[in-house]
Amino acid sequence: VEAVILVGGQGTRLRPLTIDTPKPMLRAAGVPFLLHQLARLRSAGVDHVVLATAYRADVFAAFFGAGDSLGIRVDFVTEVEPLGTGGGIRNVADMLESGPDEPVLVLNGDVLSGHDLAAQLDAHRDAAAAVTLHLVRVADPRAFGSVPTDAVGRVTAFLEKSPEPVTDQVNAGCYVFARRVIDAIPPVRAVSVERETFPALLAEGAVVQGYVDPSYWLDVGSPESFVQASADLVRGVIASPAVPEPSEALIRGSVAPDAYVAAGSVVDDGAGVGAGARVEGSIIMPGAHVGPGCVVTRSVVGTAATIGADCVLTDAVVGDRASVGARNELSAGARVWPDVVLGDCAVRFSSDR
Ligand code: GTP
Repeated sequence: VEAVILVGGQGTRLRPLTIDTPKPMLRAAGVPFLLHQLARLRSAGVDHVVLATAYRADVFAAFFGAGDSLGIRVDFVTEVEPLGTGGGIRNVADMLESGPDEPVLVLNGDVLSGHDLAAQLDAHRDAAAAVTLHLVRVADPRAFGSVPTDAVGRVTAFLEKSPEPVTDQVNAGCYVFARRVIDAIPPVRAVSVERETFPALLAEGAVVQGYVDPSYWLDVGSPESFVQASADLVRGVIASPAVPEPSEALIRGSVAPDAYVAAGSVVDDGAGVGAGARVEGSIIMPGAHVGPGCVVTRSVVGTAATIGADCVLTDAVVGDRASVGARNELSAGARVWPDVVLGDCAVRFSSDR
């Protein structure tokens, strides 16, 4: 089976981390997020993956250009103008080798999912479907478009966001397409599968099947969910073949003996954590440094950024190479842009006394 991964989005919700690095290449549990998806696809028997790239395609080319050290053949196609989800899928069609009625997996590049890919493929074959969507049930479906299905799992509608959704089933961003359905998407223009391709298939009476699976599922597109995903991967809450050994913390850099690093944190290559610091549920990117006495919770410290002594970071994102002076407090979703220099005690959420 072949797979297409959509990796061309700008990742605006994750800025400033996505200024230099496209979202699928941000490191989660010590490797680019995309490698968790590739490892999972390989475990499911996928041997050829085509990446649909647009934004910062150069970063993918630099990483994957060298060939298939991952044990899976990876090709990539770059859009001149971003073509959206459907246009991106259509744009890679020439690279696919599957026959017209064979299944092709299509994945959003920003979803961490433990669902059963083989079972989704089986559901697609059993229903002789044009497309089979992985659906998940969410606690609050008002934030999503919803996807109702009938008694045999056939999708009956694609509904926009609503204050009173008729179902809690939402599109989980992993599809099986019959190859011929990919070829039928109009070429060289922007197309959204969610808003255009899927509703058009329903309108023409094609079989669009839903595959509901209650396994772990997380859209990693926001800072909160990205750090959550990384911590869950480190701790083995969700298994990934790219994380051989679950643990409380993944430490590749140096951590002072009396510092405390836990709750799925990563201290990546060449990163450091100073004396007495506490780091929980956070990502300290390669070459970054957290000073002595800091308390860092559910936060990301970008590549080569430095955090001075006694800072408090809670639900914060510090961009690459930024320098945060001592005794700053960054909380509640604060985002520091790359290369910014914050002086000592420059931003606080409490008095300094
Ligand atoms: P936000 O800007 O934060 O919403 O993130 P995003 O740009 O990734 O958009 P979204 O989460 O809606 O995208 C879903 C998936 O489709 C992601 O894996 C994106 O990389 C991918 N994607 C979105 N737009 C395009 C596009 O124009 N071309 C390609 N190839 N992929 C896209």
